Amino acid sequence: MKAVAVMFPSREVRVLDVPEPRLHSPTQVKVRTLEVGVCGTDQDILKGHHGAAPKGVDHLILGHECLGEVMEVGAHVQGLKPGDLVVPRVRRPCPHAHCPACSHGHPDFCVTGDYTERGIQGAHGFCAEHFVEDAAYLHKADDSLRGVAVLAEPLTIAEKGLRELSHIQSRLPWKLNPGKALVLGAGPVAQLGAMALMRAGFDVTVYSRSPKPNEKAAASEAVGAPYISSKEVTVEALKKQLGGVGIIYEATGASKVAFDSLQVLEENGVLIFTGVPGREEPLELQGDQVLGQLVLGNRVMFGTVNASDSDFREALEDLARFRAKWPGRLEALITQRHPPSEFAKVVEAKGGIKHVISFQEHAR
Ligand code: BGC
Repeated sequence: MKAVAVMFPSREVRVLDVPEPRLHSPTQVKVRTLEVGVCGTDQDILKGHHGAAPKGVDHLILGHECLGEVMEVGAHVQGLKPGDLVVPRVRRPCPHAHCPACSHGHPDFCVTGDYTERGIQGAHGFCAEHFVEDAAYLHKADDSLRGVAVLAEPLTIAEKGLRELSHIQSRLPWKLNPGKALVLGAGPVAQLGAMALMRAGFDVTVYSRSPKPNEKAAASEAVGAPYISSKEVTVEALKKQLGGVGIIYEATGASKVAFDSLQVLEENGVLIFTGVPGREEPLELQGDQVLGQLVLGNRVMFGTVNASDSDFREALEDLARFRAKWPGRLEALITQRHPPSEFAKVVEAKGGIKHVISFQEHAR
């Protein structure tokens, strides 16, 4: 069977012929890959900033944002049958019994760093014609989501962020109205984050680099989130325009804009970081000012990575809600589908919003 892999140590992408995966336990499921989303993490892996092959292997099969179709189920699998659509989770627990997170079913909070992530860290991903996975890591997707469920994984980042946000804001002794939120960036994680925040009742503005008109601005405005370009409106001017926001959802991985945006954050507000910065120049940070803003305004900044079982379930439910609320808008985020052989080219692609590798049209 064909699989798209990155070779180590060259980090060159190749389409390999690999053995057909088989069920090794009665709780496993064999899945036919339909689609795999490509994201900034894949780019980081190819650049050598992130990622590792499974132990003792010279390549890593790529792909962690996936939609597949069940081909075969083990004897003990319940609730899944051939033909069902499934979305796999990414992270698998570390082997250490003392890790409180992994031993509580939350490898997304792993404290040892010895977790694996399929398609990223020490475990093969889903960019292959077929894969085998334990049923416990598969989420059934409704057939009506066939065209968009590949977006579930990037949406889980927002689901986890929003869940953590609600825990943090439960510190306030009154019921908080959602109010205004600012999304930094306009890529897929940002667009899906904007939708999730709007669904939660926030009044969302998207703040990103490129001046309008551009397709990302059009996508956010089509769901009712005004788009402002940071090339045209400075953070100071943005503060005057918006008058402060209660939540900032950062999805750029650009540290400067992330820290600058603190100026727009109201008292008791929360800044959520989801982007991992590339290796860029060192940032000069007004540390005293940042600390002052945090302390004197009870502001919170937190980072969030990966997602758990409940975030995946919530993401799949939200995709259905988003489709009903904004018909055609999720579909429009997937700007291009490509054959598996184009993975390396897609990672470098400049335009578009979400690029997807499709096994449906090209590999069968
Ligand atoms: C994935 C997460 C993963 C993170 C770090 C992201 O692109 O969505 O599941 O934990 O990369 O590897």
